[in-house]
Amino acid sequence: MEALVIRGGVPLRGSVRVGGAKNAALPIMAAALLAPGKSTIEEVPQLLDVDTMRGVLESLGSPTSRQGGSIIIDATDISNSEPPYDLVRAMRASFLVIGPLLARSGRVRISLPGGCAIGSRPIDLHLKGLSALGAEIDTGYGRISATADRLTGARVYLDFPSVGATENIMMAATLAQGLTVIENAAQEPEVVDLANFLNAMGAKVRGAGTNLLRIEGVDGLQPTTYTVVPDRIEAGTLMIAAAATRGSLVVENAVPEHMKPISAKLRESGVYVVEGDDGSITVQADSRADGVDVKTMPYPGFPTDLQAQFMAFMCTCSGMSVITETVFENRFMHVAELARMGANIRIDGRSAVIEGQDHLSGAQVRCTDLRAGACLVIAALAARGTTEVSEIHHIDRGYERFEEKLAGAGAIIERVNKG
Ligand code: UD1
Repeated sequence: MEALVIRGGVPLRGSVRVGGAKNAALPIMAAALLAPGKSTIEEVPQLLDVDTMRGVLESLGSPTSRQGGSIIIDATDISNSEPPYDLVRAMRASFLVIGPLLARSGRVRISLPGGCAIGSRPIDLHLKGLSALGAEIDTGYGRISATADRLTGARVYLDFPSVGATENIMMAATLAQGLTVIENAAQEPEVVDLANFLNAMGAKVRGAGTNLLRIEGVDGLQPTTYTVVPDRIEAGTLMIAAAATRGSLVVENAVPEHMKPISAKLRESGVYVVEGDDGSITVQADSRADGVDVKTMPYPGFPTDLQAQFMAFMCTCSGMSVITETVFENRFMHVAELARMGANIRIDGRSAVIEGQDHLSGAQVRCTDLRAGACLVIAALAARGTTEVSEIHHIDRGYERFEEKLAGAGAIIERVNKG
């Protein structure tokens, strides 16, 4: 069991480079199944979740390899359409192979997905969309079976702009006969990145980045080489860490446009945020910032994947702030851990009311999920004294060389083996 030991109170300084986006890389890796042959995906971060997706693809008969920052996927043959339970249970994004498998092989059998325990996370919208495209879907015994001779284009309205459902339906529709229209589609940059990858393979996806997607089905797709977009959640985590430690940090290789919801909230709290033309963002906090209210929303709203990290920052600000989580129904597990560090937070339904403290104090805390883990690291960096963050396998799912990058910016942080 590994843990991170962090001595807090050191402002982050210097510069840190952001890597490729986990949440773009995973669907793109799944989408590589659509085209027979070898696709090369560049700027894929080295993460547990990426390894899990590689395991899923390999279990389906598509070998994968890593060369530096690239993953090569050979989807010449797909010999199996049932990824193993252990991999699907380990990561919800494994479910993203259902659309490509159905479109390419006409069949898929998969266990209900797992992942971070941040709510019930149903899959009804994925299934609604695939069924509208003509898939025969059978559920039972914790598994889903879907079959289709050839999918046919259809009009699908999503009750909620689910990222995964938009991606699964979009991937399936690329090889369907005729036009598919997805209304109330997710507009996240990772959805746009997936659409760009699909188009690079020869798909006809229009409207990505808006809430109306139009996908004209084609008869076949060709493998391609594609570079994944920078990770806005990693960039946001670093920006918030800089603010919480009252540091001065240049976050390199970000897409400033994607960071607007975070930049706006940091500025509102009194932090200095400057966007460079080269994709760098400078965050500087000289004095104690003010508490601000935040509500998570689908993109372009404030991302739920930065809610926990922003809460850690709010704990160190002056005055009250209210953070409302509207995307997931159970995403406040970090609150109990922050309380161990002296945070004063009251949960009221879907909102957390935070009374900022002069300082947090080091303590022993435990990651409950990926972003909660990042939240605790930020709290620890800002706190007085030493914090030990345990169960960091959650952090390793989504942050590449996290402690190394933070140490490069001056943090006193060490990975220790607890035996
Ligand atoms: C993706 C991201 C995750 C992020 C989330 C929201 C990946 C690999 N993961 O997850 O990091 O937190 O977007 O930005 O990209 N829902 C339904 N029915 C469905 C599908 C979803 O009700 O069929 C609900 C979920 O329970 C949740 C909300 O929609 O409350 C958002 O989920 P969704 O956008 O699908 O998130 P994911 O794709 O799982």
